[in-house]
Amino acid sequence: MQTLRTTSLQVRDNQLWILDQQALPQQQNWLPAADVDALVSHIHALRVRGAPLIGLSASLLLALLAEHGMPQPELAQALETLRAARPTAVNLMNNLDRMKLALGQRDFVSALSREALRLVAEDKQLCDNIARAGSALVTPGSRILTHCNTGGLATAGVGTALGVIAHAHQQGKVSHVWVDETRPLLQGGRLTAWELGELGIPYQLITDSMAASLMARKQVDAVWVGADRIAANGDVANKIGTYSLAVLAHYHNIPFYVAAPHTTLDMQCPNGDAIPIEQRAASEVTGVAGSFGSVQWAPEDARVYNPAFDVTPAALISAWVLDTGVVTPENFPAEAGA
Ligand code: MRU
Repeated sequence: MQTLRTTSLQVRDNQLWILDQQALPQQQNWLPAADVDALVSHIHALRVRGAPLIGLSASLLLALLAEHGMPQPELAQALETLRAARPTAVNLMNNLDRMKLALGQRDFVSALSREALRLVAEDKQLCDNIARAGSALVTPGSRILTHCNTGGLATAGVGTALGVIAHAHQQGKVSHVWVDETRPLLQGGRLTAWELGELGIPYQLITDSMAASLMARKQVDAVWVGADRIAANGDVANKIGTYSLAVLAHYHNIPFYVAAPHTTLDMQCPNGDAIPIEQRAASEVTGVAGSFGSVQWAPEDARVYNPAFDVTPAALISAWVLDTGVVTPENFPAEAGA
């Protein structure tokens, strides 16, 4: 396969490499993802993360395995193993459905490679379209609050919600970004803060519990988040803590926008109740671990509830900003384009 490089994925020497998102920003380590076990382990550990990126990494690996001579039945098995790597983000399933069609073709090796590269190129384009559509909603002088990480690290392009913020900043419309640290795994504090710094966009980091008081003090003009799955009725699964922000935004009369590519839509899923929510290890809540080391503060036997995502009901969403354009509550799902 041709050489390829995005912010957090590389194909070189016919091998997939990932930028370890658990070590960022203190360390920039590129790790190989040579086989299915390696990639699944990177995905479980969130070294590869973000809804679009998970799907793209799985697709690229399958194409590379085919080029290395893996036979069709084993590729089919690998595809299903990758599909089960994380349950909530539907981009993984949507991308692999397309790879499965390619796998069914007679010349499946080149079909898989073409399809994986097409998915990467499309994702870049989808991000650009989202950024353009979304920035039209950003009013001059905006102070925007965002959650988790939705930037170039999580996609093959400029990102989704963060892509909108970056585009609107280039247009001179963003005065400030409030970055939720995003407990428990700190995607905001580690990744979004790093990306905003690289982009030269002014930001301040807050703990998740500070959003309410900022809104009460009229310091937030809009909330922008990404999505891991959008159900047919417009309910959105996204990083845990998103729902609290939506409730707060509603109470304070602040617009709440969701930015995502159409690969995040799941029209087979009737509503948020039907979205599978990943439960994660207790250790993520009883302490913290990273390139800085690890620490546990909770009692050894503390019982923990740790869902990775929550569901924001459609009624709390001001608009869904997709690559196909802005969809308002009156027009969802007719204009979602799925
Ligand atoms: O657990 P993560 O870090 O993969 O969760 C990521 C999110 O919730 C993002 O908001 C979502 O995947 C959109 S990324 C463009």
